[in-house]
Amino acid sequence: MARAIIRRWILLILIICELSLASGGQITSAPGRDVWQRPEEVMDAMRAHTGSTVADVGAGEGWFSLRLARRVGTTGGVYAVDINPKMIDFIRKWAANEKLSQVDPVLGAEDDPHLPEGKSDAILVVDSYHEMRKYDAMMRSFRRALKAGGRLVIIDSDDNP
Ligand SMILES: C[S@@+](CC[C@H](N)C(=O)[O-])C[C@H]1O[C@@H](n2cnc3c(N)ncnc32)[C@H](O)[C@@H]1O
Repeated sequence: MARAIIRRWILLILIICELSLASGGQITSAPGRDVWQRPEEVMDAMRAHTGSTVADVGAGEGWFSLRLARRVGTTGGVYAVDINPKMIDFIRKWAANEKLSQVDPVLGAEDDPHLPEGKSDAILVVDSYHEMRKYDAMMRSFRRALKAGGRLVIIDSDDNP
């Protein structure tokens, strides 16, 4: 009897741990990504600095959005755009957990990232461009979203279709 109660308690604790992890918005990533992805160099190429307004389009879980948020600080802003509502929820959760109010999760459409006009200093698209079927429309939207002299940085792999 006592064993059954203990087992039930252990099960309950495990379920609670799992639920809190699932809702906690912990970004998972390939091991060593901070080394091979060279995020600091990428953000330098974007000319992202304290106070910049930037966009991470096709943000996924927001691996880059998190680093951009730290780089631009509370006086800057990061639009973390994805077409998958689950990714947007996920980003919203970790941004709240990390108290990064400069992160603004944006649900985009296939042909429109829903970015405000002329507000972004730079736009980053990592490993997502090959997934965007409406290239021309997306490019036009990027252009509209960028400030004059703003930068578009696209990183994609030769291996992608
Ligand atoms: C391979 S993931 C890359 C995630 C992230 N950039 C990274 O490097 O960790 C590609 C993401 O692009 C998103 N995506 C595909 N088409 C898109 C579009 N037209 N606009 C915004 N996001 C898009 C997908 O939903 C997916 O989350």
